[in-house]
Amino acid sequence: MSDTRLKIAVQKSGRLLDGSLELLKECGIRVNNGKDQLKASASNYPIDILYLRNSDIPQYVQDGVADIGILGQNTLVEKQKQIEEVLPLGFSKCRLSIALPKNTPYPGPEWLNGKRIATSYPNSLRQFMAKHQIEAEIHEISGSVEIAPNIGLADAICDLVSSGSTLFKNGLEEKEVILKSEACIVRNTQLSAGKQAILDQIVFRIQSVLKARN
Ligand code: PRP
Ligand code: MG
Repeated sequence: MSDTRLKIAVQKSGRLLDGSLELLKECGIRVNNGKDQLKASASNYPIDILYLRNSDIPQYVQDGVADIGILGQNTLVEKQKQIEEVLPLGFSKCRLSIALPKNTPYPGPEWLNGKRIATSYPNSLRQFMAKHQIEAEIHEISGSVEIAPNIGLADAICDLVSSGSTLFKNGLEEKEVILKSEACIVRNTQLSAGKQAILDQIVFRIQSVLKARN
């Protein structure tokens, strides 16, 4: 029977959650869940929703614990798992950027040579550094990255920017966009035919919803 239900991983809490649930709702997928339930079933569709930590979703989808997931492209790039993007979703748009203390003269990426950069995205940052042949020290921290220059932990940061207000409040300026991101659907690469058929139907519905939004 498990072959006939599609398990969708969504963020348990965070910036993608509201957009993800709103999209499922607009697709006519009715999910009954008490807020603390980590698994919920759709009443009118062969779909189960798993509420997971954002950073765990790529691994779960790779392992087939979840069949598909709603995820930021930034996390997809960072985690480097064997999963596939199926469809960009047009919400939770942000960018992964390098930022420096306000009024720091910045001629280009070479400025970063020999510097300390704080980030929650070490793999994405490493790719950028390799591309520009930069050697810098990466300080990995899992949140509140913008505080790092102010407390003397780093010379620069590499973190997500959406409205820019966190950078502004911490006296930082965006200098380089490393990647642009939005929410997307990712899938396990070996879905059964039955699950792929359910996914195809959902994708079709989502595409109609996204078209109507524009
Ligand atoms: C995210 C991100 C940035 C901020 C960007 O942090 O890491 O710090 O949001 O949004 P803004 O440009 O609209 O200000 P979050 O608030 O999720 O907290 P965390 O980094 O401590 O997890
Ligand atoms: Mg943050």
